[in-house]
Amino acid sequence: MATVGGDSRRKDDAAAATNVSVLMADQIAYYRARAPEYDQWWAREGPSDFGPEFNAAWASEIDAVGAVLSAFNPTGEVLELAAGTGGLTVELARWAKAITAVDASPEALEINRAKLSQAGIPVEYVTADLFAWEPSRRYDVVFFSFWLSHVPVERFDAFWAFVARSLRPDGRFFFVDSAGPEWSRFSGASEADSESTVRRVRTPTDVAADVALREVADGRQFHIVKRFWTPDALRGELEARGWEATVAETAWAFIYGHGRRSDHL
Ligand SMILES: C[S@@+](CC[C@H](N)C(=O)[O-])C[C@H]1O[C@@H](n2cnc3c(N)ncnc32)[C@H](O)[C@@H]1O
Repeated sequence: MATVGGDSRRKDDAAAATNVSVLMADQIAYYRARAPEYDQWWAREGPSDFGPEFNAAWASEIDAVGAVLSAFNPTGEVLELAAGTGGLTVELARWAKAITAVDASPEALEINRAKLSQAGIPVEYVTADLFAWEPSRRYDVVFFSFWLSHVPVERFDAFWAFVARSLRPDGRFFFVDSAGPEWSRFSGASEADSESTVRRVRTPTDVAADVALREVADGRQFHIVKRFWTPDALRGELEARGWEATVAETAWAFIYGHGRRSDHL
């Protein structure tokens, strides 16, 4: 019966919304707990040190993204979403006139603030849930690194509408993210390496469900969203929402993209 079907669909929607909210709260809790360890990942230290061959390949991937960011030239007033501990905020400060850095983790933003203390440009810090926050003004550039993969499918539309609202009419976005599960596309990886690495870092990712189990050093575990994109699929989704976008990958580690609203080309 239509009414029963409608009721059960509404219940399913409500259950899904609750699940996403629970997952998003766990994701924030994870990054708050991980803030003191986070930079080891970018620097390939401690449990993220997978050996010289991997680390050198990682460094060269970072250089490749740095070259794309440099060509993009993120000047003017920059809004950085999910800025975290500031590895990329430091890079943005080389170009930007001013930065607003938003993140749900005050612990991560404290580390970010310390890194940017000598930046020589104004950096405003906002501790907020990005799914509930609204900017009070518009920006030349909206930047987000390793954030898009944490946006669940249910919030994808709302997220890009928020990016549009945050930008001046001719403003531009830039993002970089993981191209696939860590290690999976590294050309030097053998099957055995890959398995032992996953065991060592204990961060299995269920790619089909967009969910990953993550663990911090003290053994606490959390579920987060980790949604991997291919350039073609993501470009298609963006174009369907009125964005003109370039989306591409580096050799194996990163996907990146930049663009602006199609009606302001
Ligand atoms: C993978 S880290 C990326 C940090 C930084 N952009 C970088 O490149 O190192 C994801 C960041 O998203 C933040 N985050 C997670 N959920 C959030 C939410 N709902 N609102 C705001 N920030 C959130 C975390 O605190 C964390 O700093």
